[in-house]
Amino acid sequence: MSGDARYVPAAGRAAFTRLYDPIVALTMRESTFRPALLTAVSDGLSQGGRVLDVGCGTGTLAIALAAVRPDAQIAAVDGDPEALALARAKPGSTTITWSEGLATALPEPDASADAIVMSLLLHHLSPAAKHTALVEAARVLKPGALLHVADWGRAQDPLMRAAFFGLQVIDGFATTRDHAAGALPTFIADAGLVVAPAHTRLRTVWGSLELLTATNAGPPR
Ligand SMILES: C[S@@+](CC[C@H](N)C(=O)[O-])C[C@H]1O[C@@H](n2cnc3c(N)ncnc32)[C@H](O)[C@@H]1O
Repeated sequence: MSGDARYVPAAGRAAFTRLYDPIVALTMRESTFRPALLTAVSDGLSQGGRVLDVGCGTGTLAIALAAVRPDAQIAAVDGDPEALALARAKPGSTTITWSEGLATALPEPDASADAIVMSLLLHHLSPAAKHTALVEAARVLKPGALLHVADWGRAQDPLMRAAFFGLQVIDGFATTRDHAAGALPTFIADAGLVVAPAHTRLRTVWGSLELLTATNAGPPR
């Protein structure tokens, strides 16, 4: 599957979607990476701001954000109806607006979000779809609003590179090659966003996980 016209299920294959949450908890240092991402989103968000979680999966981040920022309006989009059904069934999900849609064609108006989150989404997309999804994020963000990305970056050392090779075997080389090369910031910048150096880098079972923030400096597209 190319990832351009469709979505890739959260755990790579539809049969594993129900296992996604425990896999992340066991292998991705979730108790560190989610709070770091939540803090970045919450700290950058004005009172009553609107946040869009793109590729929200089973909804863990959106629901945690709703708990720490009850003032925020939170919308969450995913291409997979099964992942959305799992999200909707979780405690704390009812204040969130869940929608089925693709990152490459967001069902959102121009300049309507104060923040967008893409957590573990971009490594599922082909290079062309990554670019389109990031241009879509720039379209939907208000001027000056922030994009928060958590995804795989260049390995800090040979052990992390070997770990990431395992993820590439599972998720595919075509969508992950640019992550191994450390090209994620370039993709974000090519979409017209001003990207800061990673604020968090974590060693995980699957390689180096990076958290990045970028600003939509330009006018809405
Ligand atoms: C690895 S999961 C990450 C889920 C969640 N953001 C998290 O941090 O746990 C990737 C999610 O992206 C969704 N996805 C993949 N390609 C997509 C696309 N082109 N448009 C929308 N969602 C997509 C999948 O359905 C899946 O739920």
